[in-house]
Amino acid sequence: MPGPPEGLFGQPLIRVADTDSTNSLLWRMLQQQPSLAEGITVMAERQQAGRGRLGRQWLMPEGGLACSILLRPDAHRSQLATLSLVAAVAVQQTLWPWLPTARIKWPNDILVGEAKLCGILAESQMIEGQPAVVLGIGLNIRPPTTGWPDDLRRPATCLQQELTTADTAAQWLQRLLPYLQYWYQRWQQHGFAAVQSAWMGGFAHRGKPLMVTQNHHTLQGIAEGVDTTGALLLRCQGRLERITSGEVEQK
Ligand code: BTN
Repeated sequence: MPGPPEGLFGQPLIRVADTDSTNSLLWRMLQQQPSLAEGITVMAERQQAGRGRLGRQWLMPEGGLACSILLRPDAHRSQLATLSLVAAVAVQQTLWPWLPTARIKWPNDILVGEAKLCGILAESQMIEGQPAVVLGIGLNIRPPTTGWPDDLRRPATCLQQELTTADTAAQWLQRLLPYLQYWYQRWQQHGFAAVQSAWMGGFAHRGKPLMVTQNHHTLQGIAEGVDTTGALLLRCQGRLERITSGEVEQK
């Protein structure tokens, strides 16, 4: 892969000490200024009401990276769901030189082993007929001062637990933005098909047994990867199932 280009993501970069959620803050900014340009990035030291996927809360230990980037893609709305997978590739590749064991769990979590290191929440709206996407990224850097809560749905980890370096959220954001911009540009030019093999290269569960829960229905099979629409491909008793939603667990 050629080196990532210098770019406009993170220009301007707005840093706040405290907010409810960087995604919500960026949506409010866009409401006030509908012409806000692509690439504007907000970063918060603390979030009081961080939001996760599927309506969940996102609790970030102090020192973590909470940021949101505005995208104004020239794409059909049906393609927007793959942007969170594009972001997962960017995060996984940013971490790779330091932490090659960080892998992608479908569709876009970043895990080390089975512990979650980073979550991604992409939200979209149509504004004057054009899509606007707020891409929110939460990366755990330090552990909570009181340790990880016992009642977490899944184990969590942070960079300080996995590495000896203790770089700051701002440093990680500066490393991440060029990768995001590089993969976003590829996606913009050629669609998710141009990102698919990089996603597969970072996939945690290729060839592994997975269980997928959709509503109250579960499906078990061997993970093969993702297709060009970002759907998970699961081989279930010889049949290839396309999974477009659901919660994935390793069996
Ligand atoms: C998930 O794994 O459920 C997604 C978590 C996304 C968290 C980030 S932190 C920055 C941005 N602001 C939010 O409120 N959520 C995202």
